[in-house]
Amino acid sequence: MSVLIRNGRIVTAADDYRADVYVERETVSLIGRDLDVAADRVIDAAGRLVLPGGVDPHTHMEMPFGGTESSDTFETGTRAAAFGGTTCIVDFAIQTRGTSTLEGLDTWHAKAAGKAAIDYAFHMIVTDLPDARVPELRRLADEGVTSYKLFMAYPGVLLADDATIFRALRKAGEDGTLVCMHAENGVVIDELVKIALAEGRVEPKHHALTRPTRLEGEGAHRALAIGDAARAPVYTVHLSCYDALAELRRAQERGVMAHAETCPQYLLLDVGAYDAPDFDGAKYVMTPPLRERWNQDELWRGLRGRNLDVVATDHCPFCLREQKELGRGDFSRIPNGGPGVENRMSLLFHHGVNAGRIDVNRFVEITSTAPARIFGMFPRKGTIAVGSDADIVIFDPEREMTISRDDPRTHHMNVDYSAYEGFAVRGCTETVLSRGRVVVDKGEYVGRPGDGQFVKRGPYGGAYAPLATAHRAASGL
Ligand code: URP
Ligand code: ZN
Ligand code: ZN
Repeated sequence: MSVLIRNGRIVTAADDYRADVYVERETVSLIGRDLDVAADRVIDAAGRLVLPGGVDPHTHMEMPFGGTESSDTFETGTRAAAFGGTTCIVDFAIQTRGTSTLEGLDTWHAKAAGKAAIDYAFHMIVTDLPDARVPELRRLADEGVTSYKLFMAYPGVLLADDATIFRALRKAGEDGTLVCMHAENGVVIDELVKIALAEGRVEPKHHALTRPTRLEGEGAHRALAIGDAARAPVYTVHLSCYDALAELRRAQERGVMAHAETCPQYLLLDVGAYDAPDFDGAKYVMTPPLRERWNQDELWRGLRGRNLDVVATDHCPFCLREQKELGRGDFSRIPNGGPGVENRMSLLFHHGVNAGRIDVNRFVEITSTAPARIFGMFPRKGTIAVGSDADIVIFDPEREMTISRDDPRTHHMNVDYSAYEGFAVRGCTETVLSRGRVVVDKGEYVGRPGDGQFVKRGPYGGAYAPLATAHRAASGL
């Protein structure tokens, strides 16, 4: 199968030019002006942007959590991602405490194999790591799982203590892999939660009130200090507020190897959402919670100034009816997480590029190139270049839509609400190629479950990779 994409405006993290793209089988084989080649399919991209497919490095499909399971399967969630212009996700496999991380990996392979609409990779959530288990991290890397997530939150469930975090970071530093940190002081948060419940403060908004920004700042500070001591880069996930951003900046200024992502919900939604009538605030119970609005400007500044590298979604949907309901009368039982994998590209294009907050190259960088690079997939993913996977999005920068759960053209996620209900955006995904195969054709899904394959990732490839190697060599740690 060959595809010729004609007359488009190719935008990568670095370039912006008019040319044709010729795709043979799964990869880009030729880029040039007025290409004179025969193709099985010709797509006219005049007036459209031709973008590298989005890479969302933070999703949770079919994730067991809070006594239930996130409502998107690998089939439904990756299809929704494709509709929104994302062609690769990195989802989180989980190690069950006391068992091997490799068993956890097998479980997640079984969930995803033959189901996904787009390519997928895995991080591993490490819940316990005694010395005897440390070598497993290298075996995971050999299997293409070159990043791990450790939690400072959720005591008794996912929380890893500081010794475990240090061990994982030190091993990652040795192996050239990457630790992702959920940075929040979950131990103190649990005390605040107990007090709130004892005082009868049970509504969804108390989820936010018991997770103050200072405790995210403290987690970020501690994660970065431990990373520095271990001479390993740290990637802070779902950074939500100025307090954590300030810690990140301070560490970066000291030369600490620190990456971070934020998410559309922290850029665009705020704590006022918890005041929605009835139990609707539960839609926004996610961790970290939504923050006071003024934090949003700081996060955009962090993206512009390159303190923040990536915008991921932390897509972790639970239906309002039945699932979020588990926490009616006790906010601590509301399953944490919200939907967004389908909306990221349009939201960021509209509120980032159209609003003049970032340019179109930076848009590509934070949604595709940087996550591909940091998580060991570049240049296979994250750019349009000869030899790259033909993960390509044809994006109409002028088309407008209003995101709504009730509009089947704008909502394909398997969840009964949209976190961005009523958001009007200009800039929509039109056609999507996943490794050379058209999977979304002018807004229609034409792919099949199983089109997407597991991506075996390489080592950490972020900006600090040479620095990390030098640190390791110099320190003898
Ligand atoms: O609320 C969230 N973010 N749920 C998913 C788990 C996590 O911490 O990323
Ligand atoms: Zn997290
Ligand atoms: Zn998450």
